[in-house]
Amino acid sequence: MSGTDRLFNAAAAARLCAYAPYSEFLVGAALQTEDGAVHVGCNVENVAYPEGTCAEAGAIAAMIAAGGSRRITAVLVIADSPMPVTPCGGCRQKLAEFADADVPVYLAGLAGIAGEISVGNLLPGVFSTGHLAKTE
Ligand code: THU
Repeated sequence: MSGTDRLFNAAAAARLCAYAPYSEFLVGAALQTEDGAVHVGCNVENVAYPEGTCAEAGAIAAMIAAGGSRRITAVLVIADSPMPVTPCGGCRQKLAEFADADVPVYLAGLAGIAGEISVGNLLPGVFSTGHLAKTE
């Protein structure tokens, strides 16, 4: 099985576990890390809408909790949508924390991968550690 097939299958399975009673929009995400591990997440909504979390955030939390590599080498997001679903703005910043700019983000529909974009192209002007430096 190819690396992207593995990510697709993992994200598709996680998507089916999504808790999305309000939007009814199920999303799955899978991350591969430098040590070869795959971590998954799904969206988890809440009746207090802003408290809901995205699939990508869940996958990142699973990666950190697993205690292995924290460097992401590939990302796949899957949803049932007429156009490939891209990570939201907040998740772009979250992914950039653990992924280099050239890391691919595969955008999948139920039938398979429908697009690809790099982490850097998803978030030009990312806020980074360089911004935390003081000028004096
Ligand atoms: N959502 C994700 O989980 N990831 C994305 O990349 C886009 C949006 C979720 C948030 C919410 O639960 C539902 O999709 C509708 O916005």
